[in-house]
Amino acid sequence: MRVQYLGRKGVITSALRVLGQLPAEERPAQGALANQLRTEIGQALEEARGALARRTLDRRLVEETIDITLPGYPPTIGHPHPLIILRNDIEDIFAAMGFTMSLGPEIEDEWHNFEALNIPPGHPAREMQDSFYIDAAPTGTGRLLLRTQMSPVQIRFMRAQAGRLPVRMVAPGRVYRRDDDATHSPMFHQCEGLLVDHGISFAHLKGVLSALAHRLFGPSTRIRFRPSYFPFTEPSVEVDVGCTLCNGHGCRTCKQSGWVEVLGAGMVHPRVLEAGGYDPEEVSGFAFGLGIDRLAMLRYQVDDIRAFYEGDMRCSEQF
Ligand code: DAH
Repeated sequence: MRVQYLGRKGVITSALRVLGQLPAEERPAQGALANQLRTEIGQALEEARGALARRTLDRRLVEETIDITLPGYPPTIGHPHPLIILRNDIEDIFAAMGFTMSLGPEIEDEWHNFEALNIPPGHPAREMQDSFYIDAAPTGTGRLLLRTQMSPVQIRFMRAQAGRLPVRMVAPGRVYRRDDDATHSPMFHQCEGLLVDHGISFAHLKGVLSALAHRLFGPSTRIRFRPSYFPFTEPSVEVDVGCTLCNGHGCRTCKQSGWVEVLGAGMVHPRVLEAGGYDPEEVSGFAFGLGIDRLAMLRYQVDDIRAFYEGDMRCSEQF
């Protein structure tokens, strides 16, 4: 309407423009009239514009009313990941038995990760644990790699203890290998354990590991020790736990055997004690390395290790 009446080609503007063609005596009256009209129309338009704006605002205020009496959304509270819950429980069990926690670096060197653990260059175990090497200049202690096991922390801890006894530590942490399937992830978690003192025997090893299994899975849990081989222990065993996913009947997780291997262990090899600065003629010890992810699969009856790493909230919210 503003354009129609007051615009450059509008009604009032045109009336003012033709004023000059009127007889001289009519001009003042017609001019005054046209000016008055222009003012009045201008004011009317302003009022209308104001009224429209108020109406729009009123409508918005009504439409956007917030009902503050509605109940709010409860905040989602985070919680630890199942692997962390289990790791904390394992730490508590060992802390109660007097073990000290130690961590060690995720980027290791070949000496700590292999040599000091009696795995010399060319040893088949180095192929067995297909490693992620770091693209960096080798150090005085060999090439750098992502640690393939938690066992190097044994060496670091013994050397830091500088001959003091007992040596009693657990080392939970991440390890890395070139593996990827339903029971293997390229990054996974282990907890290493080491106890060195005068007169430590295989009976101590069995006692500590049985206590662990029974505290984690309950007193009726079945475990078995199988003879095995590790370069850093002699003798060596592997320890299996009765499969909780199928109750021992056989399934994908236990590869139809009814048992799941959860840890390796043994009596610390004399060369490893020496690398740690201890005299194998004086002291003996046991060591073990358990797979936290495997234990978590058994404890929470999860049949694919990758479920722990995919970050799917539907999975993690259940724990
Ligand atoms: N480091 C071994 C692995 O990653 C696990 C292991 C086996 C650790 C026997 C030990 C041990 O301390 O005594 O497969």
